[in-house]
Amino acid sequence: MYEGKFYRVLHPRPTLVIVSKCPNGRLNLMPASWNTPVSEEPPTVAVAVEKSSYTYECLKHHRYATLNVLPIEAADLIYKLGSVSGRNVDKATEFGVKFENSEKIDVPRVAGAIAGYETEVYKEVEVGEVALYIFHVLYTWVAPGVADQWGFDFRRVNIPLHGAGRAFYRVDPRPVFAKR
Ligand SMILES: Cc1cc2nc3c(=O)[nH]c(=O)nc-3n(C[C@H](O)[C@H](O)[C@H](O)COP(=O)(O)O)c2cc1C
Repeated sequence: MYEGKFYRVLHPRPTLVIVSKCPNGRLNLMPASWNTPVSEEPPTVAVAVEKSSYTYECLKHHRYATLNVLPIEAADLIYKLGSVSGRNVDKATEFGVKFENSEKIDVPRVAGAIAGYETEVYKEVEVGEVALYIFHVLYTWVAPGVADQWGFDFRRVNIPLHGAGRAFYRVDPRPVFAKR
């Protein structure tokens, strides 16, 4: 029997930062590492969002959001964004986050993100203390020169894989090719 939390063996996990529009008129940012692609048709990505978070309320208020992949160099910022709530703090102002306009929706991207999605809420599934938000991907963007059709070039850029607490990991750029 494993003594730790059951989900530890599924970490480290790639971290997204959700930007949502909130009832208080602000944009809010929340890191989320419990995320996964769900279907190709329609293109969807699911994120487990705690019902106690302000992001949960913001996504009920406004059905569009961006899901941003920040580089590993933003680990400090990501940790800070996940340590306070947008209910009490204007995180963008407090942490100096800049935004860039999106192509398809009225919620901006995080400036400096290396990739991300412009999305609309497709469905929510309530599971215990969480709502699994399934987002319909309306547009995918990637920063120039960091990825090809197979994904990121990890010799050029790296992503924040969240371990536990303040620990983040990088992707080892050397692939392990399975034998035929
Ligand atoms: C790296 C990292 C990953 C996180 N992943 C999730 C997650 O997947 N789902 C979640 O509900 N909270 C997650 N959290 C916690 C939220 O980000 C945190 O509760 C945040 O303060 C909520 O902000 P809000 O109240 O402004 O929405 C994570 C925190 C960190 C630092």
